[in-house]
Amino acid sequence: MKGKKSFVFLLAVLLVISLAACGGSSGGDATAPPADDSSALIVVGFSQVGAESDWRTANTQSMKDTFVEANGYKLIFDDAQQKQENQITAIRNFIQQEVDYIVLAPVTETGWDTVLQEAKDAGIPVIIVDRMIDVSDDSLYTAWVGSDFRKEGDKAAAWIVDNFKDKEVNIVHIQGTIGSSAQIGRTAGLEDAVAKNSNLKIIAQQSGEFTQAKGQEVMESVLKQNDKIDVVYCENDNEAFGVIDALEAAGKTYGKDGDIKIISFDATNAGLTDTLSGKINYNVECNPLHGPRVEKIIKQLEGGQTPDKKAYVDEAAFDANTITQADIDARAY
Ligand code: AHR
Repeated sequence: MKGKKSFVFLLAVLLVISLAACGGSSGGDATAPPADDSSALIVVGFSQVGAESDWRTANTQSMKDTFVEANGYKLIFDDAQQKQENQITAIRNFIQQEVDYIVLAPVTETGWDTVLQEAKDAGIPVIIVDRMIDVSDDSLYTAWVGSDFRKEGDKAAAWIVDNFKDKEVNIVHIQGTIGSSAQIGRTAGLEDAVAKNSNLKIIAQQSGEFTQAKGQEVMESVLKQNDKIDVVYCENDNEAFGVIDALEAAGKTYGKDGDIKIISFDATNAGLTDTLSGKINYNVECNPLHGPRVEKIIKQLEGGQTPDKKAYVDEAAFDANTITQADIDARAY
């Protein structure tokens, strides 16, 4: 009996050793990849514009929160520092790394044909997010999701028309990054209203590059040359913050109870706080929470479906006279 028991024990040990050698020691499917196998993840290369604004920071966070390993993704993130050439380099790196999807938040609309043709030739789907691109062949990208920037501009311009009626209005126009969809749409909205309403006049127009520092710098120089300013049309919240700093320093009154009315875009938490306090008169929403929207497109593609080629996000606008604390509290960015 003693000899038989030893033989059975020896057999059991050999079985355990051979199972372990096959990677099947837990008794599961030996062919299934281990839970931490990164090759099972969908690899997403994301070329982000930069970190120029609060909006952009919220947008980056939304993408980083969505494309996590726990959701089945590996995110390769690249900050282009507002330079298109950096975005082109990032896309080429993503192609070399054979990512599954390229997501591009383009700094400007034009100049993408060559590099996106390279992505297409490599068989990598490209999803455009936030701003749009202007390419000769629409098949160079799979889908786009973002804002209707022209509609945003129209809303802001309508506020000026409605609030000033027939009065003469001198407008300082601080634009975003020239050539970006956000600038093109918001500028077109204002310029169209100026063309249709002879009482509206743009007395200064310059880019503040969507940053607080540049917004302040532009406003400081405009204030040196212009006495009568009725409206400052800032193409995002950060420019508006810079403008407010410049107006304060110059001793000007502004906002709901002041002489100079301020228009802004984005409606970030900080922007709406300034709207509620009456510093900003009208703030048009631009929603940055695109992570889940891009993921929806990827899931459709993974499931063999065809996503909408273009999808616009619904957006609101907030007037200093009607905004409430609840509007701000409902905001995740
Ligand atoms: O493209 C969206 C715009 O880019 C936002 O309005 C601005 O804040 C950002 O930098």
